[in-house]
Amino acid sequence: MNNPPLLQVRRLSRSFDRNVPVLRDVSFSLTEGSWTILAGSNGSGKTVLMNHLNGLEKPDKGEILFRGQKIETMGDEIRRRVGLVFQNSDLQFVEQTVARELAFGPTNLGLPRRKIELRVQEVCDELGLEKLMDRRPHTLSGGEKKRVAIGGILVMEPDLLVLDEPFTGLDWAGVDQVLRTLIPLHKKGMSLLLITHDLAKCAAHSDRMIILSEGRIRREGTPEEILPGVEEWGIRRPEGLTWLK
Ligand SMILES: Nc1ncnc2c1ncn2[C@@H]1O[C@H](COP(=O)(O)OP(=O)(O)O)[C@@H](O)[C@H]1O
Ligand SMILES: [Mg+2]
Repeated sequence: MNNPPLLQVRRLSRSFDRNVPVLRDVSFSLTEGSWTILAGSNGSGKTVLMNHLNGLEKPDKGEILFRGQKIETMGDEIRRRVGLVFQNSDLQFVEQTVARELAFGPTNLGLPRRKIELRVQEVCDELGLEKLMDRRPHTLSGGEKKRVAIGGILVMEPDLLVLDEPFTGLDWAGVDQVLRTLIPLHKKGMSLLLITHDLAKCAAHSDRMIILSEGRIRREGTPEEILPGVEEWGIRRPEGLTWLK
């Protein structure tokens, strides 16, 4: 028997104002271990779609299944399984030091102190955050902030990491830092959904690409299949090889 996909979105629709649908009959699946890019121009519905993936927002129609189970039957568990890294790291931070920021999620889950310390240390080592542990998150560089925000989600041991426009506002060194964080995570088996309008920085690392335009899925396939036609959907086509390849 085939295993169900990691995440399956089925015929999702959502409007805020009845006359203006933001997501229209959106269906797609993510497989275990995949690095998928969800690409779309500004206003295409990417962030709204992301907020549905772990139940933060509820669709008007349609459903989402995590490993075959409807997410609304999973309670808070779905928030742990599907970790969202928001576009603006500053809005994600709640604590006064990086160490406390990393401990925040597991503390809220009520995990035993020893387990929290262990998870924080693991993520600190994995992402190379040791030198930042006593810093205030808000005072970090853009790339450092994004790594800490990713760390704050990884401590929850998600099965899918979703990142909304993780390169926004980052300089070259910041983008480099973020990619150098994501590439080994993916190599170790983490499933990634990277949401962006900026394919140049990440296309080379993905194995699947989904195009969203005006709330509809327009294309789905391998980067080789999708990249040549992306400009039709208002997304810039990267020239040649992209970052860190
Ligand atoms: N809370 C909301 N209320 C009303 N409209 C919204 C809300 N959130 C998003 N929208 C609208 O939904 C559309 C898609 O937004 P969004 O998902 O943020 O786009 P993207 O992330 O692709 O740039 C936009 O037209 C936006 O104005
Ligand atoms: Mg957005």
